[in-house]
Amino acid sequence: MANRIVLFCFIIFIVPAAIVFAQNYGKKEILIDGGKKGNITFPHQTHQNSINDCMVCHVSFPQEEGALTKFKKTGMLKKKQVMNKTCLKCHRNSKKAGKAYGPVKCSGCHIK
Ligand code: HEC
Ligand code: HEC
Ligand code: HEC
Repeated sequence: MANRIVLFCFIIFIVPAAIVFAQNYGKKEILIDGGKKGNITFPHQTHQNSINDCMVCHVSFPQEEGALTKFKKTGMLKKKQVMNKTCLKCHRNSKKAGKAYGPVKCSGCHIK
């Protein structure tokens, strides 16, 4: 009986915890190449905390360092595609909805 309880606890608590901790969240802050407009200091962790769904962004590029640059080079992403369709889209919609929102002006993200 005691063995079963141990096994039960293992399955219910330890296994899910191991899965959660095994996830690679990446850097808290990421420097994104912004071309001639200047780079972007992107607060990754702040977004992860408020969005709660990695795929909102990672649906169009993998969870890898340099993925945006790599995908633009190979044509998997167009230039400014993620900027317009992911970043700005959400910031603008949130602004319209009267919620907390991120930068909507160029200089709010691109810093030279
Ligand atoms: C608001 C958009 C957004 C959300 C939400 C998001 N990410 Fe990211 N993530 C990015 C961007 C942008 C990069 C940088 C890609 C690059 O370097 O070209 C990135 C890179 C990464 C990387 C690789 C870089 C590194 O630091 O190791 C990992 C790992 C990662 N994300 C994991 C996650 C996980 C796990 C979640 C969900 C808990 C998540 N991300 C949610 C935008 C996001
Ligand atoms: C919410 C943040 C944000 C704002 C605001 C923003 N950008 Fe960007 N921009 C990005 C990100 C992230 C990238 C890299 C990913 C991409 O190209 O989609 C980028 C990339 C770029 C690039 C480089 C494209 C390339 O591959 O050569 C240019 C040029 C650019 N932005 C111009 C602008 C201009 C002009 C404005 C204002 C009208 C602007 N951006 C506003 C986030 C932003
Ligand atoms: C689904 C919504 C959503 C997406 C997608 C999103 N953001 Fe944001 N972003 C926010 C919100 C909400 C805030 C405001 C957070 C706050 O101030 O509490 C924010 C804030 C920011 C800030 C300002 C942080 C600060 O310290 O003032 C930057 C820079 C930023 N976002 C860049 C980006 C970039 C670059 C992308 C695309 C890779 C992106 N965001 C994608 C919702 C989003």
